[in-house]
Amino acid sequence: MAQAIHPWQDSQLGPDERARLVLAEMTEDEKFSWLSGPIALPIPGHPPLPEEALGSAAFFPGVPRLGIPAVQQADASLGVTNPFGIRPGDDATALPSSLVLGASFDVETARETGALVGRQARGKGFAVQLAGGANLVREAAGGRNFEYVSEDPLLTGRLVGASVAAIQAEGVVSTVKHFTLNGQETGRVMADSRIEEAAHRESDLLAFQLAIEDGQPGSVMPGYNLVNGDYASESAHLITDILKGEWGFDGWVMSDWGATHSTEKAALAGLDVQSGADFDPEPYFGEPLRAAVSEGRVPQERIDDMVHRQLHTLFRLGVVDHPPVPGGPVDLKADNLMAQRAAERGLVLLKNDGDLLPAAQGLYRILVIGRHADVGVLSGGGSSAVTPLGSIVEPSGIDRVWADRVFHPSSPLRAIEADAGAAHVEFLNGIDEAAAVAAAYDADLVVIFAEEWRAEGLDSQGTGLPDGQEQLIERVAAANPRTVVVIESGGAISVPWASKVPAVIAAFYPGGRGGQAVAGVLFGRVNPSGHLPVTFPKSIDQLPRPEQHDPATTTSNPNMERIGDIFEVSYDIEGSDVGYRWFEREQLTPAYPFGWGLSYTTFAFSGLDVTADRSHVVVTGTVTNTGDRAGATIVQVYASRRAQGGSASPDDFVSRLAAFARIDLKPGESKPVELHLEPRLLARWDVDAGAFRLAGGDYEVRIGAHALDEDGPTSTVRLQPAVLP
Ligand code: BGC
Repeated sequence: MAQAIHPWQDSQLGPDERARLVLAEMTEDEKFSWLSGPIALPIPGHPPLPEEALGSAAFFPGVPRLGIPAVQQADASLGVTNPFGIRPGDDATALPSSLVLGASFDVETARETGALVGRQARGKGFAVQLAGGANLVREAAGGRNFEYVSEDPLLTGRLVGASVAAIQAEGVVSTVKHFTLNGQETGRVMADSRIEEAAHRESDLLAFQLAIEDGQPGSVMPGYNLVNGDYASESAHLITDILKGEWGFDGWVMSDWGATHSTEKAALAGLDVQSGADFDPEPYFGEPLRAAVSEGRVPQERIDDMVHRQLHTLFRLGVVDHPPVPGGPVDLKADNLMAQRAAERGLVLLKNDGDLLPAAQGLYRILVIGRHADVGVLSGGGSSAVTPLGSIVEPSGIDRVWADRVFHPSSPLRAIEADAGAAHVEFLNGIDEAAAVAAAYDADLVVIFAEEWRAEGLDSQGTGLPDGQEQLIERVAAANPRTVVVIESGGAISVPWASKVPAVIAAFYPGGRGGQAVAGVLFGRVNPSGHLPVTFPKSIDQLPRPEQHDPATTTSNPNMERIGDIFEVSYDIEGSDVGYRWFEREQLTPAYPFGWGLSYTTFAFSGLDVTADRSHVVVTGTVTNTGDRAGATIVQVYASRRAQGGSASPDDFVSRLAAFARIDLKPGESKPVELHLEPRLLARWDVDAGAFRLAGGDYEVRIGAHALDEDGPTSTVRLQPAVLP
């Protein structure tokens, strides 16, 4: 074994001590080389790409004389990206969008896909993966919803946490982002997300808190937006008080690219790194920060802390001892299959009248309609877009939107042909509506692939399908009652046409093997088991903010001329009652609620028992597959606190998902379940106590087929008052 040449190379020492030893040897130049850096892409007029840089989101130089490796950073949650094809020939697995992961309600799938991302990142030479999107979906039209898991803090926190832990188990640092309240993309660099402290703690902050507890990420990235008047990247309340203080986060906080806005304020608020510094008007964490230190405006200890946090994390996760190098093992074939399995677990069968699906055997003629259904499936746009070889990449053509429109090379048409046996499969792109309608008349089955594209910096406008697709669906369905619609969307949409169509599948963006996954559901190779991670509204009018900000009146991206002023977005309208909770509170009936999803088999839950030991509530029972096909069910446990003895109190709350589990069952099989409710989901944030507080009294615990299901088994449990640790 090679002799350690520096004391910190002794892996017997703890990461904190190793970091301190290195830090003591570093020059100020070396330290500052880690505090601010440009995007690592060759952009005219921007700093040249260092020779060692692979081409990705960022490159931070190593300190070879101290045995510290360079750190290369890649995007994102859905796989390792290759922006603008900078690394020619570099192939990667495109996972389904995070909403599909949310729909799987499956911690194990989060682990498996996280491990896949970690392995591929490491194999390509990346030490940091900018993954871990943990924002709650607050706006149905939100442009980055596809990078987020759900509208629910428990589901989001648990799945992001599992994914991040798995990425890091591969020896790659993961972020959790975008801390916090990045609810919309329109004007994202100018939107000031407003929310009361208690509501924030019970919603978006809770999602982050759970994700950070479970995932122990090495880094956290604040969003572009402001939160309660401060840019997220310079919010001392968020970064120093809550994240690093209360939650004890010991990793580093990196800004989003071009989202640092000051030197002193940001540094003192706890920001550790200015990322994408070439998008900012000033090199805030370069020369200006050095000056601030020498003038005593920022203490030297803050600089050392910024570096120590990075070193500590790199030691903790094994990056210094085993630096990732390009050319490592990547098993694309196995990983692509994993991406398909992940999609298969998360596709949601919204509707299946008359058991139209799975498609009957022996069909003679199948008609596939959809703009790109012959070549691929949609991907969300922006920094997270993975482009496996063969992807179609088109400029968006939308003013001030830099993201390209990407289609993953998984042709639904070819996949349907492969699964459809001897059937004759025809294709029309649907642009000629009359031709599509005419062709639909005598088909045995029509499958329409509807597309709705969103991207970083681009919300959808309204909640419907664009480009006349709603009318196309209605007319085709009128011509043929055996019509299935497969929705490829970046989030919840309104589906006013659904009553006229017998079968609907929500595929969101299903990833690099999405076509095969959808075909599996259509033909019954796969029994659908996804459940909605976001509520589908009947219309935009049902939402907390039906008015959308006009994108022409604001600026959504860094490094672009600013139009208009900073504007406020009030999240106090719904507060912590995000998504399905809003619908319950306002007594609105959505098109399809959170948790909704059909299967080709049926399940039953029996023997509900709820017990409590102080704030620890345990739910037990038995789930049974009562049908004749293998399938997976999601046990969804909702808790609520209603007016006690008829008198309402601020401690009451509408239904909240308090535990969940995904369970595979063979036909006729039963399994016992035991679920432990997350106590913070039973509590309210007490601003004065600075803690979650459980009010004494009766709580309703309900097993729901979805969030608004009132017919499932219900029980009541009495809890004693408690302040949660
Ligand atoms: C995105 C981040 C991403 C970064 C680096 C930004 O535009 O908001 O999520 O990690 O770019 O590519």
